[in-house]
Amino acid sequence: MKNRILQALSEADGFLSGQELSNLLGVSRTAVWKAIGKLKEEGYEIEAVTNKGYRLVPDQERDILNQAEIEKRLTTVWAGHPVIYEKETGSTNDDIMHMADEGAAQGTLAVASHQTAGKGRRGRTWLSPAGKNVYMSILLRPQIPVSEAPMMTLIMALATYEMLQDLHFPERIRFGIKWPNDLVVSVDGGPYKKFVGILTEMRLEDTEIRDVTIGIGLNLNLESVDPELEETATTLYLATGEKVNRAEIAAGCWNHFEPDYEAYLSAGSLEPLRERYSSALVNIGRKVRILDPKGEFTGIAKAVTSGGELVVTPDDGSEDRRIGTGEISVRGVMGYV
Ligand code: BTN
Repeated sequence: MKNRILQALSEADGFLSGQELSNLLGVSRTAVWKAIGKLKEEGYEIEAVTNKGYRLVPDQERDILNQAEIEKRLTTVWAGHPVIYEKETGSTNDDIMHMADEGAAQGTLAVASHQTAGKGRRGRTWLSPAGKNVYMSILLRPQIPVSEAPMMTLIMALATYEMLQDLHFPERIRFGIKWPNDLVVSVDGGPYKKFVGILTEMRLEDTEIRDVTIGIGLNLNLESVDPELEETATTLYLATGEKVNRAEIAAGCWNHFEPDYEAYLSAGSLEPLRERYSSALVNIGRKVRILDPKGEFTGIAKAVTSGGELVVTPDDGSEDRRIGTGEISVRGVMGYV
């Protein structure tokens, strides 16, 4: 109902009276008035003038994150259908796993503007303040071997990188992927800093994949980061000086993810995406430190395989090593990348 009023107002040429809206939608004038109140609460600027009615104040720059704003920007067939938006939740990854247990369809997307129990990788917390960022998770039920599941994260990173390219920031703003799945940004050739994180959680049934939840947290319009993290972390606003429309960013990720994921499934490997993924990687040609529990070493990152592994030439002259995404961590020798 709220969404139908919004649509009627955005299509109207000027004002629509309460009576016109109530006739159009077949509801009472009180119901119209209540729905207008809710839209205003969500951030829509609606002008009300006696004897004229209501008018949606046009504002291309308005940043409103909700189900309707995301849905109208999605061009996908299944990714993001449906969108379940919550202003505040614990963790969208947890929400998706609960929905999966209740039989939700593949592609179900949980989006929130604030998380009170955001989860990061390696059991860390993902700081999720309200109103400025995007926190979202999707449900997948891929019929692939368990060992392939980490690939989902790489595909998500690539889709996010491609969405960022669509925003056409000036050349001095460079985006990249830090293998396997952190999105980083560098300004004027400065150090790359992380502003997007991805957490993929897989659940098994016997030895097969029951479902996979990919969660992504994008630090977008936030005006500051924790001083302790400043050297390695940033937000899109701090890097570019521009505020973005969060619904556009959210939808853009899935508009890229769906075809990339399908290309991966039909090839059974990263091969169709490998070139694009490699060219987005900021590690290639750089020195990396591999924090392998079996023994730490440094080397030069050379390439990525069709299995998503990072090929590293160790500094000690030994044979090239293929690093899987598992529990191994890659650090730059200078700074975060
Ligand atoms: C990382 O540590 O880099 C991964 C962070 C992933 C955060 C996202 S926000 C949406 C989803 N819900 C969560 O609780 N975590 C992921």
